[in-house]
Amino acid sequence: MKRAIMWSGILAAAIAGGCATTADRAAYDAKATATIQRDFHARGIATMDRLKQDELQLACTRYRDHPPEDVLERLEAQQRATIRLPADGVLSGDWKRGAALAESGRGMSWSDKPGTPSGGSCYNCHELAPQQTSFGTMGPSLRRFGKLRGYTAEVQKYAYERIYNSKAFAPCSAMPRFGTSGTLTEQQIKDLVAYLTDPESPVNK
Ligand code: HEC
Repeated sequence: MKRAIMWSGILAAAIAGGCATTADRAAYDAKATATIQRDFHARGIATMDRLKQDELQLACTRYRDHPPEDVLERLEAQQRATIRLPADGVLSGDWKRGAALAESGRGMSWSDKPGTPSGGSCYNCHELAPQQTSFGTMGPSLRRFGKLRGYTAEVQKYAYERIYNSKAFAPCSAMPRFGTSGTLTEQQIKDLVAYLTDPESPVNK
């Protein structure tokens, strides 16, 4: 009985959701924004600017992650323009350091001192090396990334750009913009590229 009531509730919500007008949506968005603003308290390095959506995030919110083709193309080009490849032309670093970064989800906490290095949190969303059996599945598996795609400079460049700004490839991607946002340094991104593309990395074993 309880279950039946629950399902009818969900059904009613789904029907109501289906009929929501643009005005309703704007009102819900405003309410959600106000609630988040009210409940988020700036502390340490976690300041209120974290709640500000940039143009891309606003568009993804507005179009529920499915912007029309022309908007998508403009956003992709904007994001692509933020990518800075290493000045020395070297795209790959040390896979061992990359492994530690991929495992670490630490960083950007209010209690961190400014400038504390962050981890990459890659395992939160991706499968990588077989030794690590705990991983998220929001992103595709990156198991044998280099082995499957080839140990080439193009594949390294693709990995570097993806980590630097995944939204240059898929604007409403859930993957953070590690380089563009300044979360990871150039050297850290190189080390992660090595973790994905070095034949000696456990990812490729
Ligand atoms: C919050 C989840 C999330 C995190 C954290 C994350 N990713 Fe991703 N990643 C994704 C998703 C989702 C995709 C699928 C494509 C897209 O939407 O961009 C993706 C795609 C990729 C791709 C392209 C895969 C392909 O098949 O071409 C690479 C490479 C990648 N991620 C590497 C990384 C690395 C390295 C890290 C850690 C620094 C990382 N990701 C962290 C969610 C994440």
